[in-house]
This record gives sequence, C-alpha cells and structure tokens, in this order.
Amino acid sequence: MTQQQTGGDVRLTGISKTYGSFEAVKPLDLTVPQGSFFALLGASGCGKTTTLRMIAGLEEATTGTVSLGGQDITGLPPYKRPVNTVFQSYALFPHLDISENVAFGLRRRGIKSVKKQVAEMLELVQLGDFAKRKPHQLSGGQQQRVAVARALINHPQVLLLDEPLGALDLKLRRQMQLELKRIQTEVGITFIHVTHDQEEAMTMADTVAVMNGGRVEQLGAPADLYENPRTTFVANFLGTSNLIEGEVVSAGTDIVVAAGGGKLRLPTDRCTAPTVNGGKLLLGVRPEKISLAHADDADAIADGRNRVTGRIVDSSFIGVSTQYVVESPAGEALQVYEQNIERDARLTPGAEVVLHWNPAHTFGLDAAQDIDAGVETVEDAA
Ligand SMILES: Nc1ncnc2c1ncn2[C@@H]1O[C@H](COP(=O)(O)OP(=O)(O)OP(=O)(O)O)[C@@H](O)[C@H]1O
Ligand SMILES: [Mg+2]
Repeated sequence: MTQQQTGGDVRLTGISKTYGSFEAVKPLDLTVPQGSFFALLGASGCGKTTTLRMIAGLEEATTGTVSLGGQDITGLPPYKRPVNTVFQSYALFPHLDISENVAFGLRRRGIKSVKKQVAEMLELVQLGDFAKRKPHQLSGGQQQRVAVARALINHPQVLLLDEPLGALDLKLRRQMQLELKRIQTEVGITFIHVTHDQEEAMTMADTVAVMNGGRVEQLGAPADLYENPRTTFVANFLGTSNLIEGEVVSAGTDIVVAAGGGKLRLPTDRCTAPTVNGGKLLLGVRPEKISLAHADDADAIADGRNRVTGRIVDSSFIGVSTQYVVESPAGEALQVYEQNIERDARLTPGAEVVLHWNPAHTFGLDAAQDIDAGVETVEDAA
C-alpha cells in the first residue's frame, strides 16, 4: 500500500521548553523532510520526549513554533494535528481484540465500515491471522505492531515514535527495527523516532539528530555522522572513537600534529577546529580504521601512514573481530578492531605493537572540549 501524502515538512523554529528555571529543550531549529525516517538520538534526560511532545501538541512550547507543510500548528490541540504517537508502553485495550484495537481511531470518528481498512492495516504489519486474538495472546513485538497499525489507520502525516521498542529484548528489537523501516518505506509517512540507542538510530533513520543537554549537537545521515563527527560528544556517543591530543606543527593541505612523541597527519578539510601553529587539537580515528602490526614487522608498514607505537594491554575475541586495547604515549587505552581473517598469534597482551592507519581516516576536533563527552559509562549502559 503506497500512499501519496499531500502534507509537507515538519519545521521547528526556535522551539524551546522551560520547566521553572530548567531549560529542558533549548531553542532549536529543525526541519524534518516529508516522507523521511528521522531519529532523535540522545542520552536519558536530553529532551527527546519533550521535543516529541511539543510536535504532538501534548506539551506547550515555551518559545517558538511548529509547522507542518508550511502551516503553523503551534496553537492547535493534539487531536487537531495530523500527527499520531506510539509510546513505549503501547497500552492496547485489553478487552478488545486486535482488529477492534486497530479500528479504534476510525470508530471514534464515527466511521462504521472499518473492515477493509483494518484488514489492510493488519496486512501491512503482518498480523492478518491474529485479528481475533486479544492483546495478551500476542508477543511483545506483535503487540508493538498492533500499536503501529492503530496509529497508522488514522492516516497521520507524521508518526511519532517514543522509544517504541524499549520493552523488547535485543533480538526482537533488531527484528522490529527492520520491520518498522519496511513499514515506513511502504506507507511513505514521515516517522520521527526517539531513541537513546545509537545503533537503532543508525539502522533505521535517513537522518539522525544527535541531542545533548537540550540541544541538537549534530544532524546528518548516519554514515556522515559516524565518519565526520564535529564534537567529542558525537564522536564518543555514536560508536567508539580514539581521541588523541596533539599540538599543531604545520598546516597546509595536511595538518601535521605532534602527539605522543611522534607526528600524525590529517587532511585539513577533515578538521572542524581552527588551527594555529602550536595550538592544541584532538585527532580522532575509529577503531576499525586502525591496523595492528607487531613491533618486529614495523619496517613493512607502508610510508605515509600515521603510526603510533604501544603495547597491547587487553584483547577480546568477538568472533567477526578481535578488539584490542593498546597503551601508548598517544593515549592510555586506544581501541583497535581487527577483522578475524589471518590472526597474528603474537598479538596478545604484553606485545609491543605499531598502530597504523591512513591519515585520510583521521578527523580533527577542537581541543577545548571535554575529551570524554558522550562516553558511555557502565552505569548508563542499561
Ligand atoms: N514536567 C516536567 N517538569 C520538570 N522537568 C521535566 C518535566 N518533564 C521533563 N522534565 C525534565 O526535562 C528534561 C528532558 O526530559 P525528556 O523527558 O524530554 O528527556 P528524554 O530525552 O526523553 O529522556 P529519556 O531517554 O530518559 O526518556 C529532563 O531533565 C526531565 O527531568
Ligand atoms: Mg523520553
């Protein structure tokens, strides 16, 4: 079922929310293109739900406007907005069967002949055979799909999803991510999905807005955010980054930085910070971009690669890869992920090694930031 929507982009202009003196959402501007799968990603308390509730009209904005397809809807009550929300606790009506749960929105609007639309919706979420069951006779993932069908049957222009997969176990969560993505592609409705799970956001969304402390830190396609983080928060929150502190030695097409007793290079156009000779810079490189050589083989490393010498302090075999932690003058705990193709048996804890990578895979960040911003601590990892 493909539907042509006549709506348009969701546009937030200077929208903010203050509770007493606390700014839960700082004035933010955001455009969500019509028909896109958009994710709001961030740690607990950063303002994701508040932002979503302001779009739904469930929360009054302190400043700013919400518009949809060019029409200002800031003053409209929730039920007058062409927007539906699916919450984490999807609260189906326990006494109604699945088809009546899905029909609910139509019945409320006084529509009598609901059969065809309900059947289409159940088909869309692949629950055609479950129409007569009660919610408690379904698995968590199936109930979640009922909640999506119940919202979509109202033909909203925008579907808001607030951590809708939070109650599911990891495997089901992964399945539902693909399932929701399929449904969104099929109906072509704008989905705004809130999650604190970076992998979930990257898997599902066309565009991800990374939120931190009530503001959007960076917005972009998943691969772009991953390869070109502009802040330490984004570099650390989205996957893992090695951040190495250094001092600028020279800047031309490449920037040369002194770090950990050696010199490292990065392309100037991959550096978002101002560079002055003698100034500080943070160099970033992702763990999978780094190769590991035993110190005895250092001579075989091609010229022109960035090199850091160190010692393996930890290694974990993950199956597809082995993850090493290397102690070096450039960083106490540099992370290296090596694919398990031909494993070098000498690469065990205690081994002296050389980390090397293509300078083009290095990004540069402003050193005035907290180097550990966005690093997930054990307590956060729920
Ligand atoms: N009604 C309220 N009164 C006061 N403070 C509030 C209220 N609602 C939310 N907040 C605060 O606003 C901030 C943002 O809350 P919000 O629910 O938007 O976070 P979130 O990003 O959705 O977090 P989570 O991932 O935990 O759901 C939090 O610090 C929260 O404590
Ligand atoms: Mg929330």
